[in-house]
Amino acid sequence: MSILCTKQRAVVPPLAGAMGGEVSHVDDLTAAEGVLASDPRETLVVIGADVDLMEALDFASVQRLLRPALGVVLLRERLEVSVLALAIRAGVREVVPESDLDLVAESCLRSRELSRVTPDGVVIPAQQSTEGKIAVVFATKGGCGKTTTATNLAVTLHAGGANRVCLVDLDIAFGDVAISLQLTPVRTLVDAMAMDGQLDETGASGLLTRYRPGLECLLAPVEPGDAQQIPASLVTDVLRVLRRMFDYVVIDTPPQFNEHVLAVLDEADHHVLLTTPDVPTLKNLRLTIDMLDLLSYPRDRRLIVLNREDSRVGLTVTDVESVVKTGVAVRVPASLAVPASINRGVPITIDQPEHRVSAGFREIATRILAGAKHEPPAARRGLFGLRRRSG
Ligand SMILES: Nc1ncnc2c1ncn2[C@@H]1O[C@H](COP(=O)(O)OP(=O)(O)OP(=O)(O)O)[C@@H](O)[C@H]1O
Ligand SMILES: [Mg+2]
Repeated sequence: MSILCTKQRAVVPPLAGAMGGEVSHVDDLTAAEGVLASDPRETLVVIGADVDLMEALDFASVQRLLRPALGVVLLRERLEVSVLALAIRAGVREVVPESDLDLVAESCLRSRELSRVTPDGVVIPAQQSTEGKIAVVFATKGGCGKTTTATNLAVTLHAGGANRVCLVDLDIAFGDVAISLQLTPVRTLVDAMAMDGQLDETGASGLLTRYRPGLECLLAPVEPGDAQQIPASLVTDVLRVLRRMFDYVVIDTPPQFNEHVLAVLDEADHHVLLTTPDVPTLKNLRLTIDMLDLLSYPRDRRLIVLNREDSRVGLTVTDVESVVKTGVAVRVPASLAVPASINRGVPITIDQPEHRVSAGFREIATRILAGAKHEPPAARRGLFGLRRRSG
């Protein structure tokens, strides 16, 4: 988690979005000190342009001694050489213009990288394993929020640069990741075909489109017809290379089982299975779970997410658990803020990090960061019983 110190409420959402991950907002540096005292694992404090320069410099010079691994990034309305010199002397890591959100994001990323190695030489790893984890977001029903979940999950796992993340759009025929993030697909998965059998990290880097420093995307081809040409073995090869390059690889999928999806399910450490609270989608999730059981995928890879939860539609989380015969791990509420954020081309976890929907997506990331565990099966009531109850 990071701390943002400013009294200007209006700048909090954009700055928190640029900082990434979970951000605690405080009004003054005394409150920042309080948060730091309660959680010694904090690695970043961003001080807003409205905070008095001398107070900010005093804070940085005290923290340099008290908490050497903590990074302080100072925002100012504009950069002045005299301020830069004073700030560096006080131990501030970077001084950045508050209005330049890209620079804010990059400096937070650099500061977090530095915080991974404390002055005592202790490396704080982003995660233990040298191979990254792969999380696939899947549902066989269209439109239940796979792309929304995958993009927000990728952004949240990235945590402003704490982790290197690659978002892969495997909805090869009708991929929406590029449009959701306002990216222009120049290189796509189709370009990997030229490297089939000899794909390495350099080759894979050339396929990626940058969203933020440390958050790259492998986009879907622009022409839907290109999908058929991509062999499943190539998808497997790409994922194996990407997991060596990134801490987390998040995969968006099409709404059906196909050979690409099966290749991904084989490689993935986490199967994030989505449903919405309506009977047809629930039925599809039940069939998906049966299929995954039939294919002998370990159940502890599964994370069931109820998206668009809405008390007005009549199906409760208990109903959902009865049908899918397993626990719902995460509930994401329905909100018009989601389509609005998609139309703005900014994931809601960046745009409105404090929103209830963002909290739901963060919960999925938290489960993945912690290593998702299988939920205990819920009481079995069956689809038929549910139809009678809700009818
Ligand atoms: N929690 C939510 N609340 C309200 N609307 C949502 C929510 N999640 C997703 N949506 C909306 O549902 C629609 C479909 O979402 P999305 O494109 O993510 O689904 P999908 O499963 O990827 O669809 P497809 O199968 O077509 O790829 C979008 O308009 C999105 O804004
Ligand atoms: Mg989609």
